[in-house]
Amino acid sequence: MAARRLLITGGAGFIGANFTHHWCARHPDDRVVVLDSLTYAGNRASLEALEADDRYRFVQADIVDTDAVRALLREEDLDTVVHFAAESHVDRSIHGPAEFVRTNVVGTWSMLDACRLEWPTESERRYHFHHVSTDEVYGSLAPDDPAFREDRQYEPNSPYAASKAGSDHLVRAYHHTYGMSVTTSNCSNNYGPYQFPEKLIPLMIVNLLTGKDLPVYGDGRNVRDWLHVQDHCAGIEAVIERGRVDQTYNIGGDNEWTNIDLVHQLCALMDEAFAADSDLAARFADALPARGQQSAESIKFVKDRLGHDRRYAIDGNKIADELGFKASIGFAEGLRSTLAWYLDNESWWRAVMDGSYRDWVAKQY
Ligand code: NAD
Ligand code: DAU
Repeated sequence: MAARRLLITGGAGFIGANFTHHWCARHPDDRVVVLDSLTYAGNRASLEALEADDRYRFVQADIVDTDAVRALLREEDLDTVVHFAAESHVDRSIHGPAEFVRTNVVGTWSMLDACRLEWPTESERRYHFHHVSTDEVYGSLAPDDPAFREDRQYEPNSPYAASKAGSDHLVRAYHHTYGMSVTTSNCSNNYGPYQFPEKLIPLMIVNLLTGKDLPVYGDGRNVRDWLHVQDHCAGIEAVIERGRVDQTYNIGGDNEWTNIDLVHQLCALMDEAFAADSDLAARFADALPARGQQSAESIKFVKDRLGHDRRYAIDGNKIADELGFKASIGFAEGLRSTLAWYLDNESWWRAVMDGSYRDWVAKQY
């Protein structure tokens, strides 16, 4: 396979940063350009280890700026787009949907159009657009419903999910109308390093360490299918390398948990970590286990999210059968290593939460 020249949008975000590290480690001959506008969720610090690598370049730009994207495609002769950039947090979409329509719908249109205008017109697999999407486009499952398959009807319920559904339809249309080589992956809930502490798992970890309550929405019985971000990156890689053009692939962990059971697991892991390492009590004096109490005592049931989807679950048979992909990181191991990462990277999460990583970045580059 000839070397690729990748454009990774949203590469300073959680999954995009993990994917950029994953791709650079596994594809030493490829050029990798990250385009990211650095919203509150984008942290150049997450890519710090690559700054000295000649194969890698970071460009701060907005995906809605079609001319800037076109110029970059031309200048770098990029042949593969991996499109992560998005507004990604459901709660924010409930409070401010406009930004989600702008970035997720208009931004995806802009990316597609820039590629249509810059790439050769014939539908060649060498020029390829991979769109990273979500299982939330399918809506919500009842407890006994079968898991989401790729042929399930779209029923997005939140402004976030609706904006991602719109972006998926645009990707499909650019293949059908213009013959662009495209693939889409729809993935379940990710967790792992570099996740902004507004999503359930890192929020609970950071709240535990800083002695805050753990807000569990509603009755805590909503179900999510959790996948370690490294497995998601491997799944996307399989689709880019071997996926059929114009196909969508669901990616999941076959790993369903109610929120409350998950939060209890995290609390138990936290108590274990404090029991095993006496330094933690000194570093995080406000955490309950530092004061001889159990972490689970800080769980608080709070008002439910508006329109809260009850259950998501992925049927991963298509990507397993066609591309041989299966998640490989067990949940107990993945949660433990994620907690260890947040314990080891306190300066990262403190800086991204208060925005001071921008000053840090300004000093570095
Ligand atoms: P994130 O919020 O952590 O990161 C998003 C990144 O996009 C940030 O770096 C941000 O600066 C950048 N960005 C936002 N608006 C931009 C714009 N207008 N121009 C350029 N860059 C912009 O998101 P994430 O959790 O890493 O999700 C990445 C993608 O994966 C999203 O498309 C999301 O819908 C999808 N997804 C996420 C999950 C999950 O569990 N997090 C699961 C399935 C799919
Ligand atoms: O399913 C894939 C999606 O997973 C992605 O497309 C989204 O980008 C990603 O944010 C995620 O969406 P969720 O809404 O499922 O993730 P979140 O971490 O916000 O919430 C997970 C569950 O935990 C959900 O049922 C709401 C609940 N929750 C969340 C927060 C932040 C709480 O109970 N308390 C909280 O404080």
